[in-house]
Amino acid sequence: MSTVPIPTTALTLDEINPASFDFWLRDDVEGALAKLRHERPVAWHQHPDSGKGFWSITRFDDVAAATRDWETFSSAYGIQAMTDPEDMQYMGAIRSMISTDPPKHTKLRGVVNRGFTPKMIARAEDAVRERARRIVDAIAPKGEAEFVTEVADALPVAIICDMMGVPEGDRAKLLDLTNRLLAGGDRDFGGTRDSLLQAAGELREYGLWLGKKRLEHPENDLTTTLVHAEVDGEAMPPEDLGPFFLLLIAAGNETTRTAISQGMWAFTQFPHEKRKWQADLEGLSASAVEEIIRWASPVMHMRRTVTRDTTFAGAQMQRNQKIAMWYISANRDEKYFPDPYRFDIARTPNEQGAFGTGGAHFCLGSHLARREVTAMFVELFRRLPDIEATAEPERLRSNFIRGIKRLPVAFRPA
Ligand code: HEM
Repeated sequence: MSTVPIPTTALTLDEINPASFDFWLRDDVEGALAKLRHERPVAWHQHPDSGKGFWSITRFDDVAAATRDWETFSSAYGIQAMTDPEDMQYMGAIRSMISTDPPKHTKLRGVVNRGFTPKMIARAEDAVRERARRIVDAIAPKGEAEFVTEVADALPVAIICDMMGVPEGDRAKLLDLTNRLLAGGDRDFGGTRDSLLQAAGELREYGLWLGKKRLEHPENDLTTTLVHAEVDGEAMPPEDLGPFFLLLIAAGNETTRTAISQGMWAFTQFPHEKRKWQADLEGLSASAVEEIIRWASPVMHMRRTVTRDTTFAGAQMQRNQKIAMWYISANRDEKYFPDPYRFDIARTPNEQGAFGTGGAHFCLGSHLARREVTAMFVELFRRLPDIEATAEPERLRSNFIRGIKRLPVAFRPA
């Protein structure tokens, strides 16, 4: 099989700017990232509006090295390239476990770790499959569907809300709030700093309201675990509880549904890979799901802040500068992924970095996400084997989440 050529771009190095929301709507994004990786793997970029700058790193080795060195590259001052440590309103709104460093991070993560171990997630297997089955039941007779809202959105929100104990009637509202929280610059979901802050506030308030209920009437859910947890011998204060809830709901939602939507689009573009998986659904599911997640790279970057002057990958970095680690590029790094632009559901090995590249903040929900993606595609491909997109995806205008807003699909009704 011949190698898929590395994509190209007409942009010059200086014209490539991943800070711009519109950059991510271009068709040559992969080419531009490849150019950065090959010719300027550590680059200084500036936000087109604020003019504020940050480092971009695009090679897998550099992303992995930065992720693992939390003492030099801190999470405590914001996790997106565009947020500034001095924007206290913003920082206060979203600050959660993901925006802390050890030792505080270790303690907070200890509170929820047990709920996400492979053993615990294996127990949720039946619930995940049952949800996936109901989602397919709902669309199967119709012959067509809007894949994002009717399929990809539906599973992750149901599962994380089950785990957190969110009543069914409130879930649509929470999904809408996480859409607004992670809208980037997309006006369909607000897409402004104010709408983001408002969504963050409402999610935190909701978490506090549910937490209060669980303090009075404990249930077997993660919200009950959070409100009864002790950190350093004290109950978790509201300023930690609200953001913790926000983090789990948002992280459990927006990422996995993006993997499912991007996966559907990939199988439409590469139908032979769909047929390959359908011929051995159980046998190939582990490698197929890893490849879907590498291909999708739903969280395009995470950001850290430099804590001391340092030389990193040949660049002189100064204290307080921001550094964006572009997983979406690291996941195409030829050094680790031979023929990286081939969507290959049997790819082995596939140590993809979409959940992070090691270190303290490695995705808490990776086992859960894998199970959800597996369950959704296995159910879809068993019952609607000819399902495919009928138009190009409508992409989210964001430099953080590689979201798809709309993706129409058609299939023979079942
Ligand atoms: C395909 C789906 C997913 C992807 C691609 C993804 C990706 C990521 C990434 C890149 C990070 C940050 C890693 C770092 O900074 O080093 C992260 C952290 C996190 N993820 Fe996920 N995630 C996914 C699904 C989930 C799910 C289903 C949950 C469930 C709640 C979840 C919960 C979290 C949490 C809580 C953190 C913060 C961990 C910490 O700060 O210690 N994620 N995820």
